Amino acid sequence: MPHPLRIAVLASGRGSNLAALLAARERGELAAEFVLVASDKSNAGALQLAADAGVRTLVLDPKAYPDRRAFDLDLFGKLAASGAELIVLAGFMRILDGEAIAPWAGRMLNIHPSLLPKYRGLHTHRRALEAGDLEHGASVHFVTAELDGGPVVAQAILPVAPGDDEHRLAQRLLPLEHRLLPAVVALIAAGRLAWRDGGPWFDGAPLPAPLRLGPHGLLNA
Ligand code: GAR
Repeated sequence: MPHPLRIAVLASGRGSNLAALLAARERGELAAEFVLVASDKSNAGALQLAADAGVRTLVLDPKAYPDRRAFDLDLFGKLAASGAELIVLAGFMRILDGEAIAPWAGRMLNIHPSLLPKYRGLHTHRRALEAGDLEHGASVHFVTAELDGGPVVAQAILPVAPGDDEHRLAQRLLPLEHRLLPAVVALIAAGRLAWRDGGPWFDGAPLPAPLRLGPHGLLNA
């Protein structure tokens, strides 16, 4: 048996995506060991969730560093020291320094609440509604130095409903995020999804298009 994948999670907020990852492990659907949950916010709900699950936590205050690069170099150094093999950004609301994350190419995932490449950055639900989109969704992608710009590996698609406002759309999307992220991480833990030759590979071949979340899990598009 290969060892469980050692994962570190970065989160700035309430941590519902972290909770989904922890729950997937509890159900036996994710062969992972959570080695560290780190945050830039001492009051992040994710920290309490981690502590309750017996996972080591770390808080670094960006204000204690001269600049972004110094913060990121320290953070990613500590992540390396944790023994993490994969970093998962689960609501980590910071722009990352390219030099600091370079050693993690192909070993860091982010979940973003839009159908990338649409709506990088903030206020994704509002922007989808303002554009009159009929579909919205969430994406999981490998992280590169470009904000929300790395290769997308999987998406969950949600039809926009009459009467959706920003809050309701976000609320309806969240349960899909909670299925999408653990499913992608489970594929990595199982060795089916990997980074090779500068891009994502799935089941031994370059991934031609993002996987899609269906009723029973991830599917080829
Ligand atoms: C999630 O909706 C996630 O997709 C989003 O933040 C939320 C975190 O919720 N991430 C981003 O916007 C990253 N650009 P959570 O703390 O409950 O997991």
